[in-house]
Amino acid sequence: MPGEVQRGLQDVVALESRICFIDGQQGRLIYRGYDIRELAERSTFEEVAYLLWYGRLPTTSQLGELQQRLASLRTIPPELARQLDALPASAEPMDVLRTAVSALAVFEPGETSAGPSSIGGAQRLTAALPTVLGAFHRRRSNRPLLRDRPELSHAAYLIYALLDREPTELEARAVDVALILHADHELNASTFAARITASTLSDLYSAVTSAVGTLKGPLHGGANERVMEMLDEIGSLDRVEEVVKAKLARHERIMGFGHRVYKVEDPRATILRAWSRRLGEAKGDLRYCRLLEKVVEVVHREKGLYPNLDLYSGSVYSLLGVPHDLFTPVFAASRVVGWTAHVLEEYDDLRLIRPTAAYVGPTDLAYVPIASRT
Ligand code: ACO
Repeated sequence: MPGEVQRGLQDVVALESRICFIDGQQGRLIYRGYDIRELAERSTFEEVAYLLWYGRLPTTSQLGELQQRLASLRTIPPELARQLDALPASAEPMDVLRTAVSALAVFEPGETSAGPSSIGGAQRLTAALPTVLGAFHRRRSNRPLLRDRPELSHAAYLIYALLDREPTELEARAVDVALILHADHELNASTFAARITASTLSDLYSAVTSAVGTLKGPLHGGANERVMEMLDEIGSLDRVEEVVKAKLARHERIMGFGHRVYKVEDPRATILRAWSRRLGEAKGDLRYCRLLEKVVEVVHREKGLYPNLDLYSGSVYSLLGVPHDLFTPVFAASRVVGWTAHVLEEYDDLRLIRPTAAYVGPTDLAYVPIASRT
């Protein structure tokens, strides 16, 4: 007999994993044994990608090889570039990304077997996502096509692909840290979706397609975009109290707050808040910092909720000039590493994920022929 229903699978332990640990009471996040605070301070995104995929920090030569490999995999097939050109310029970038991941599998059929060799697909997708986003965004803003820039780090290439300029050292490091912080988060909804798909022995590209569709929702990756909409709606410091209280009175969710697992502040939010301030100071623009500080104070006082990562990522990207509708795709360009690490782990310890529902409908209705139905 099925047990008690845990709505939203809250607190259900679905599988064992060696990739990521969250201590929601203490506000700790660990990738493969290493504290996120230390990784954000001392590592690069490429190092963290190696760690998540292979389970250990790379040596200098292993890191160099991975950097070269990722840089060499950035170019997308011309057939895919043509497909992207055929999509309406008004399309939502997350829809474009989902379509591109799926299409890439068709143009690279050699990469679609399920198993340890899928690490090739994991690296291909990670390298190609900034190019896909850049190709789409440049076309809709009538800017020239991307050039290969193998000398740029993943973070710098992402900014170059989107904004057609090289970031400053500070900007590149801010994006690098943001990518590190977004790279994995245990069994979040999109990663679980990827693992469910992989557990049927489907291929990595299908698993990542499922994940992109799941990340898109405003309760998950889509929250960062909504945070900036809220800041635009608030406009000035003296309106924070009024706007936030009105939202709460209407029982609206305040985006960028609350978390299923963290009962204290999300450690990623703490790190990104500091980067948001650092960037704001460098650009002489602390408007977002001040608004967010006040929003945090009001939401905590009124509702006891703490910020999550999504509260600050939008302000970092906005200060760089990234358009709002690209925030969630930028999240995906990092989380693809976590998704694929989990897919590889799933292939290694495969068991079809198939929970049970507590059926609460009728079971013995009399069948009525169509002609007699009212
Ligand atoms: N604003 C207002 N109230 C909230 C919020 C919020 N952001 N988050 C939770 N609550 C309230 C709920 O209304 C509910 O109140 P009630 O018991 O009076 O009805 C209570 O807190 C519990 O909420 P649940 O939805 O049951 O908690 P859950 O664990 O499912 O929520 C979630 C987690 C979905 C992230 C939620 O906090 C939320 O909607 N946050 C806003 C969206 C967001 O920021 N998402 C990003 C998450 S992090 C990431 O994906 C990177």
